[in-house]
Amino acid sequence: MPAVPAFQTSPGMRDILAPESARWRRFTGVFADVVERAGYGLLITPLLEDLGVFTRIGDATEVVTKEMYDFVDKGDRHVALRPEMTASVCRAFAEHRPTTPWKLWYSGSNFRYEKPQRGRYRQFDQVGVEVLGADDPHLDVEVIALAWEFYARLGLTQVTLLVNSLGEPDDRARYVEALRAHFTTAGDALSEQSRATLDRNPLRVLDSKRETDQGLISTAPQIADFHSTDAADHFEAVLGGLRALDIPFTVEPKLVRGLDYYRRTIFEFQGGTLDSAQNALGGGGRYDGLVEALGGPATPGIGFALGVDRTLLACDDEGVFDADPVVLDAFVVDVTGGLEAVKLTAALRAAGFAADRGYDNRSMKAQMKLANRSGAKFALIVGDDELAAGTVVVKPMHGGGAQVAVERSAVSSHLASLSDQNRNES
Ligand code: HAM
Repeated sequence: MPAVPAFQTSPGMRDILAPESARWRRFTGVFADVVERAGYGLLITPLLEDLGVFTRIGDATEVVTKEMYDFVDKGDRHVALRPEMTASVCRAFAEHRPTTPWKLWYSGSNFRYEKPQRGRYRQFDQVGVEVLGADDPHLDVEVIALAWEFYARLGLTQVTLLVNSLGEPDDRARYVEALRAHFTTAGDALSEQSRATLDRNPLRVLDSKRETDQGLISTAPQIADFHSTDAADHFEAVLGGLRALDIPFTVEPKLVRGLDYYRRTIFEFQGGTLDSAQNALGGGGRYDGLVEALGGPATPGIGFALGVDRTLLACDDEGVFDADPVVLDAFVVDVTGGLEAVKLTAALRAAGFAADRGYDNRSMKAQMKLANRSGAKFALIVGDDELAAGTVVVKPMHGGGAQVAVERSAVSSHLASLSDQNRNES
């Protein structure tokens, strides 16, 4: 039995090894391709910020009250690892005052002290976009459409889009009070956990999955009845844009989202294959007061973040966007001491081939085994005879084809002609 290692990753944190890690990189690459074509530029912000940046997310948000990784650093600053990126983006906007509309995308790790389970980690990754400085409902449509296109590029087909509007801040405040009254009148009929939630944030009671709460939730006031004319018009324009793009959606009046900063449009993408506790593949909305709360000018904002970990689980479930390992063109087997392998692999890599080699001067048999396991298309073999003759034996590792001895200086062009040949045949 293997010995238990002295250290393992902390709960809710994971190592991602190749080839899975290559899939992660490809995931970000596809996302970048989708959003950069739409004029979004990459923003990189620090992993760690002043705690105050994140407390502006709202004190009724569990992400802030219970799940923050915060500590006092050696300079006596109270800092925190970011639990999400929207607050950092708004801090960056207030700090740099870029021209608007400021369209940006990001990718990276976030930290929340949650109870780990499948699809829920303490360190997790997101990709996302934000746009600051534009109020246009068609921008809401644009960002939703980008996420929708990204899911299609991954090959996911079982994603559902839920949308709702929380109205203007006043509408939202009146709605929260109406909900508080509705649930308070019910007294003990509400589950104990939801009564605790009611004290902190009545909106979140609507998220309860507990059977006992469902009756009261179904008779609760509806946000649409509290929308101001402006909020209702804005929302109608968003829905009209989604219809114009043939993006299927469901208006879900109970959708409230977990973060406090949202105003007006909110949306969530749910994966059809995941358990309801972690089926949110991504979500977003408008957060028109957040820049101001961070000391900047009043600035409308909208965006979304998609959970990388969860979206890849959904890809696994749907059997799409597989990990494909790097395919090596050549594996160099040198049984003359290893210096030939040093030169040959360097020359091949410089010529644009993916090449690897055996180390430690192992036997021909052992190195051929490695060549086989590597999945390389060709083994390039240098023995004493080849060394003396200035040649290399090129041995196809898959399918037919005879091995041939090739002049050392002609190896790259020979491999290139073989791959052209393969391309033409396939
Ligand atoms: P969020 O809903 O907290 O929104 O997170 C977005 C997505 O990140 C979730 O739908 C989920 O896929 C993923 N996620 C969240 N927590 C975890 C976790 N513990 N483990 C794995 N995945 C997780 C935000 O973060 C907002 N900043 C989105 C946004 C951007 N709103 C406007 N702009």
